[in-house]
Amino acid sequence: MFAIVSLFMIIVMVVVTGLTQALFFRQSIIDRESVIVGDLAKALALEHSISASHMAKYTDAEAIEHLSQGFGPLKQLSGTQRIKVFNRDYTIVWSDDSNLVGTKRTSHIDDLTRAMHGEIRAVLNSKESNGNILNQGTSTPESIEIYAPIFQSKLDKPNAEVIGVLSLYRSPLGLNETIRHGLYLLWAVIGATGIILFSALYKLFTLVYSRQKLAELRFTKLSEEHDRIVQLEKLSAMGEIVSEIAHQINNPLVGVINLTQIAERDPDISPKTRRLLAAIEKSGIECSDFVQRLLRLNQAARSEPQLVEVNELVRDTIAFFHQTIGKHHTVIFAESDSHVMILVDPVLIRHALFNFIHNAILAAPDKPVAISLAAEKHEGVSGYLLSVTDSGSGFDDEVAKKLFKPFFTTRQGGTGLGLSVAQFIAMKHGGVVRAKNLSGGGACFSIWLPSVTKP
Ligand SMILES: Nc1ncnc2c1ncn2[C@@H]1O[C@H](COP(=O)(O)OP(=O)(O)O)[C@@H](O)[C@H]1O
Ligand SMILES: [Mg+2]
Repeated sequence: MFAIVSLFMIIVMVVVTGLTQALFFRQSIIDRESVIVGDLAKALALEHSISASHMAKYTDAEAIEHLSQGFGPLKQLSGTQRIKVFNRDYTIVWSDDSNLVGTKRTSHIDDLTRAMHGEIRAVLNSKESNGNILNQGTSTPESIEIYAPIFQSKLDKPNAEVIGVLSLYRSPLGLNETIRHGLYLLWAVIGATGIILFSALYKLFTLVYSRQKLAELRFTKLSEEHDRIVQLEKLSAMGEIVSEIAHQINNPLVGVINLTQIAERDPDISPKTRRLLAAIEKSGIECSDFVQRLLRLNQAARSEPQLVEVNELVRDTIAFFHQTIGKHHTVIFAESDSHVMILVDPVLIRHALFNFIHNAILAAPDKPVAISLAAEKHEGVSGYLLSVTDSGSGFDDEVAKKLFKPFFTTRQGGTGLGLSVAQFIAMKHGGVVRAKNLSGGGACFSIWLPSVTKP
């Protein structure tokens, strides 16, 4: 946008400057010519002693001779189209076209009058007015008409008196040629300056722009980094509190379960009491399971990184999943051919992956779950992406916003900790967790980990 606008402005600048300069050129050249013609009129009158009486009695043979000798040579001037000499009565007393002598023809009475008062006037005749001025009409399209005063030849008088006006019509062809050349040169210079200016500005702009972009990028990265740290802190703090509570609850809970089991062994209790004891034991075990899960959450806060082979890690997780959740669930893993080694805490990564697989199975219990491993860059850092894909119904936008919030769940009996813990684990490893719906239905949850191989 900037490039287009500035290029357009430079073009406008070049054209406008060219056009205004052309007018200025033309006027300066005409002014210069007028001054020369004025000097010429003065010199010729002096040289040939042309006097007021010659002007008045222009039909006399002596006057004709003086005037012809005086102004005749002007015919030799290049580009001269017409010469007229007016006396103070505005009558043409001499012309290169003898038919005009004795007439009062002029279209510029105003300029003629001013010339009579000692001023030099220059008029540029356009094509239309041309016929009138030149009277007989000529082949040239336009002309410059100069009115120069003719002074009394006696120079000893301080205020020499104007005795007539020399009117010279000249072809502007030469002038136009000069202007054209001047204009081309001017345009070339302005154009070159414009291009230099444009490229300098463009360079400056791109520099400023890229710096700005870089600063913005840095800022975004910083704020993302900040968000991650805040999230990490939140989860760490939450983990501490939860584990403290869990520990506090766990011991009495184990006591309750054990005591219930002991009480159940007593053969003398009534069937009703036995039923009640069984219900207490069941609730106690459920409670204990939940507490165990909470305790596992805190495990995520302590990580012990070691070099592990990812294929093996995934295989172990699947095996563990089959052991704990059920063998009938199909989990397909497309192993990578090469050995992929990463520096991670295998317990934590297994835990995160386990959560993904479990969620995937819960989303579509009878359908297979696919796990894939791929090398992928994240923000310019190379690493690996472990993805778990299911054939469930995915999640809607509302759920998407809260997926990673601790304790957010849409499932009956869900803890809402699977994804937040997985995210926490990823963050601890400098990685990220991603969730997306698949176009053909189902969801894909992945964990990206940087390929750090040295502690
Ligand atoms: N594979 C999935 N497909 C659809 N929704 C999912 C999937 N995995 C997780 N979710 C959504 O994210 C929520 C949070 O998941 P999670 O943190 O594992 O907690 P929980 O499994 O206890 O509900 C789930 O309740 C569910 O709404
Ligand atoms: Mg879950």
